[in-house]
Order: sequence, then structure tokens, then C-alpha cells
Amino acid sequence: MADLPDAAVMAFEELLEERTTLSFERDIKPLFRADPDVAHMEARGLDLTDFAQVSRLRAIGGALDIFRRVENGNMPIGGPQWTAPMVITFGIWIKQGMKP
Ligand code: HEM
Repeated sequence: MADLPDAAVMAFEELLEERTTLSFERDIKPLFRADPDVAHMEARGLDLTDFAQVSRLRAIGGALDIFRRVENGNMPIGGPQWTAPMVITFGIWIKQGMKP
């Protein structure tokens, strides 16, 4: 983390210490690119911009399934793989009870 600006390091530390309550609209939705992520998955029946769909915990296409796929690099197909801060943000959002 040595090369990151101080503000980015502080924001990441806050995230890891869970001093922030993450929200789908503010913190999670922006992790998905309009194209290709949202566009391609919508065509396959999963709307990644839809809180109700993404916040289903155990369903296929639900939060834990998405977490597993971005964590192991299966999604997004074509890359780039999500960075650790992206995966951790998604995981903490789940742990905090998936707030809208
Ligand atoms: C969690 C449930 C998900 C399921 C079941 C799923 C399933 C699929 C399937 C079946 C395909 C088509 C594969 C193919 O045509 O070879 C696909 C493509 C794709 N998915 Fe997902 N996906 C999921 C989540 C995601 C997420 C979270 C992202 C983004 C972060 C994502 C991004 C993409 C992209 C970019 C493609 C490429 C489509 C293309 O280039 O044609 N998917 N997904």
C-alpha cells in the first residue's frame, strides 16, 4: 500500500475496521461496469443494478454466489479480475447485512 495516496490508505483502513456502513447504492453498484458487466448479465437474467436481486443471500446470482465468483476470478469473464479492495468491500457489505 506504500504507493497509494494517504487518503486512499485511510479510506481502506476505515473499510477494514468497519467504521463505515456500506450501502448498495453508494458502494456496491459502482463496482459493476455498465458494459460489459451489467449489460451482459442482464441479458442472462441477472440485474446487477437491482438491490433486490443482488441482496438475495444464497440464490444463484445472489450475494454469496457473486462473492465467490469475483473472489475466484470466474467473473467478470474477460477480466480484469476484481482487486482485493473490491472483493473485500463486497464481503463487508454482506457481513454488515446488505444495506440498500
Ligand atoms: C453470480 C452469478 C453469475 C452467474 C451465474 C453468471 C453467469 C454467466 C454466464 C453463464 C455467462 C456467459 C458465459 C459464456 O457465454 O461463456 C456470463 C458472462 C459474463 N459475466 Fe457473469 N455471471 C454471474 C455474475 C457476474 C458478475 C458479478 C459479473 C461482474 C462483476 C459478471 C460479468 C460477466 C461478463 C463481463 C460476462 C461476459 C459476457 C460476454 O463477454 O459475452 N458476471 N456470466
